[in-house]
Amino acid sequence: MAIPTTCVVGLGYVGLPLAVALEAKGARVVGLDASTARVRQLASGRSGIEDISDDQVATAVARGLSVTTDVNDAAEAAVYVICVPTPLRQHLPDLGAVEAAARSLAGVLKAGDLVILESTTYPGTTDEFLAPILEESGLKAGVDFHLAYSPERIDPGNATYGLTNTPKIVGGLTPESTRAAAEFYGAFVDQVVTVSGPREAELAKLLENTFRHVNIALVNEMAVFSHELGIDLWQAIDAAATKPFGYMPFYPGPGVGGHCIPVDPSYLSWRLRTLGYQFRFVDLAQDLNNRMPSYVVERLQLLLNDRGVALSRARVLCIGAAYKKNVSDMRESPALLVMERLQRLGARISYHDPFVPSVELEGVHHESVTLDADQISAADAVLILTPHDGLDLESMVQSARLVFDTRAVVPPVEGHVYRL
Ligand SMILES: NC(=O)c1ccc[n+]([C@@H]2O[C@H](COP(=O)([O-])OP(=O)(O)OC[C@H]3O[C@@H](n4cnc5c(N)ncnc54)[C@H](O)[C@@H]3O)[C@@H](O)[C@H]2O)c1
Repeated sequence: MAIPTTCVVGLGYVGLPLAVALEAKGARVVGLDASTARVRQLASGRSGIEDISDDQVATAVARGLSVTTDVNDAAEAAVYVICVPTPLRQHLPDLGAVEAAARSLAGVLKAGDLVILESTTYPGTTDEFLAPILEESGLKAGVDFHLAYSPERIDPGNATYGLTNTPKIVGGLTPESTRAAAEFYGAFVDQVVTVSGPREAELAKLLENTFRHVNIALVNEMAVFSHELGIDLWQAIDAAATKPFGYMPFYPGPGVGGHCIPVDPSYLSWRLRTLGYQFRFVDLAQDLNNRMPSYVVERLQLLLNDRGVALSRARVLCIGAAYKKNVSDMRESPALLVMERLQRLGARISYHDPFVPSVELEGVHHESVTLDADQISAADAVLILTPHDGLDLESMVQSARLVFDTRAVVPPVEGHVYRL
């Protein structure tokens, strides 16, 4: 099937790869973003995200991908895919960007168009929240235009699974909407999985992320008591993972970050609270994961203490500021929470992150330092938080006085290298 002219709304981590993939498949694509700065950046051939290179953007733009802030430039599209942010504001879902995007689309929507929401959100958003705004166009959802939900499952930095080889879940408002959305994705995604409606598709995405959130909390709690019991949890996890069925390994760390794991389960618990129901699993997982940054600081403080160094006078070199390896995304990064806490307790912190040139920690500006032997040996402790690929951690360990490794990426050495 020839892909119809498509408007991708929101050109960030989710929308840009989609727009570039569609363009590469020969589709005419209009990228619509509310940010003038973002549109300028893309128009000048700069990607701004790791999974898409500047070259890819420049090529797509040269071949006809148009980027704009004006919805009227997208009036010719037959498919609109909404990929705008859905953050939390004071622990509550903030659908402001979805609302604004939908309102602008209502001004250009035509009979026969297909609108798909990809932003992560609570079950009921597509039919209860999005449809009425789009219907301000005077057209009826599921009757005059197709409407579907299809969660984005992109994993930034993942070199194995990307847009086309990760199955795409689709749930339309009506069977015709499901069919239209499945046909659209079928043109450029290897496998499309249909469910009976948008709510099932919305819940599938939240189930995936809540599952991850809860299991990370489980191993984080285990990390705390394993340390007390003198057990190497990492070995236990790897041993358990040899079971070929019924188990999937998750690993402890300094906390959870990004726009998904710490945020998405709250969308579900918010929805359940509207029914008077408390989602206890999520609340507990949040408690456990949220305590990890201060637990990491406490463990480091004890290690320094053993060497007669007070944290308030210690130089601590932190490795990695992004929320996970191989990306520059710092949203909800636990590494920043750890660094902030260290700074608040008086430690003289520095950090190295090849993806993050500078950070502001409670009003204090820090720039990523060069990871050389002088820098490393000057630190009382090196704290590994986000170990990007390509960092020479083995030789860093040689020069370090003390290493606290929260990701188990270097072998433990008694008296020198410690694990979470
Ligand atoms: N990043 C991921 O790994 C990932 C994975 C799966 C799902 N998601 C979900 O996808 C959605 C988008 O996330 P993201 O990471 O791409 O966000 P992002 O912040 O990287 O990009 C969003 C873009 O939307 C633009 N925007 C905001 N309001 C707009 C509006 N009204 N009209 C047009 N453009 C608007 C912003 O300027 C920005 O460029 C969120 O719901 C997120 O939870 C993200």
